[in-house]
Amino acid sequence: MSATKVGLIGCGDISGGHCRSYQAAGLDVAALCDLDRARAERRKKEFSFNNADIYTDYKELLARNDIKIVTVATPVAMHAPITIAALRAGKQVACEKPSTLSRAENKAIIAAEEETGNRVMFFSSRMRGGYTPLCRQYIADGKLGDLYRVDVRYWRRRGRPGLDCVVGAHWFLNKKLAGGGVVMDMGQYFMDQVLHLAGWPVITSVAAWTHRGFPSDLPTGVPFDVEEHCTIFARTEPGCLFTFDFAWIANHTPQRCVTLLGSRGGIRMSDDAPFTFFEEPHKWHWMNTTTEWQNKTKEQDVMYGLLAAAARGEDVCVGTTAREALAITELTDMTFLSAERGREVSRKELDTL
Ligand SMILES: NC(=O)c1ccc[n+]([C@@H]2O[C@H](COP(=O)([O-])OP(=O)(O)OC[C@H]3O[C@@H](n4cnc5c(N)ncnc54)[C@H](O)[C@@H]3O)[C@@H](O)[C@H]2O)c1
Repeated sequence: MSATKVGLIGCGDISGGHCRSYQAAGLDVAALCDLDRARAERRKKEFSFNNADIYTDYKELLARNDIKIVTVATPVAMHAPITIAALRAGKQVACEKPSTLSRAENKAIIAAEEETGNRVMFFSSRMRGGYTPLCRQYIADGKLGDLYRVDVRYWRRRGRPGLDCVVGAHWFLNKKLAGGGVVMDMGQYFMDQVLHLAGWPVITSVAAWTHRGFPSDLPTGVPFDVEEHCTIFARTEPGCLFTFDFAWIANHTPQRCVTLLGSRGGIRMSDDAPFTFFEEPHKWHWMNTTTEWQNKTKEQDVMYGLLAAAARGEDVCVGTTAREALAITELTDMTFLSAERGREVSRKELDTL
């Protein structure tokens, strides 16, 4: 059987990772597209994709009937229009995170899926690898009991894309093109991870605060109107409280820690310690660090392997679904609305906008 053909739209910074995953999943790269032809040519040469045709207009790529899977790796503002066009052109779609700029775009993607029968997966599920499957198993086995508290802290020392990393990609700093700053860029990964772990509870209200204020040496006229830091307090219908603290830039040690607390046990997943499960088998607190198991396969490679199987007609679940992406956008929208209004906002208020 010949390999499934894939096309890549957007050949910028992250596209190299997609190219490596195509090779790992045994996909046949038939087309590369970028507004800047030289970027597409560069990936073709770098990965020896000798059969790949180069395009600067994604519509021409989508018109190819032999291409079954399309990756969308453009700035966020183009995710929904390209994804919807790709679904309508008969493709399965792998779209970068964050999924869209608005709930309306997420809903239009869901409608396009329903209309065409084709599927989209988003890469906000990248954090579902590593220790996450182990954590999920602990929850499923009842080792945590009732989950009542989830906390995420992710801080970079200097990591504003467009400025401190992915230098020159100024769209990351522009709300019209990126939708937001650290919440869109990194926060949605963690929202996906912990909502996935908690079984996608309904978020009923959010209180959030955002900050921007570090200096930058951007050329005059380049917009920079997104947040560098955001703190979120989110209540859910089952009563579990989620807090998130995201920073692109901070005068502090970098941090990355996810904590889950339940009535019977607690879990800590962080960069500076192994997976840790806290339980109380006797009368006092007991810490058990005996298990270091983790899934070491890169989540993105896993996702493309599954996507290739889906394109062959196998019934597999891959990445963040269109409905899960909508739930993440809703939490993001409540976050920005609360920060703007300076008070807690309810889910119902979103519908009145
Ligand atoms: N850079 C990272 O580390 C990283 C990591 C994970 C996810 N992402 C996500 O991947 C996406 C792309 O990010 P990036 O860092 O590669 O950005 P980038 O600016 O380096 O690359 C984006 C590319 O898209 C091209 N493009 C824009 N509009 C296009 C269109 N209509 N048709 C074809 N090509 C078009 C641009 O010319 C550019 O080459 C974003 O959604 C981002 O959030 C980036």
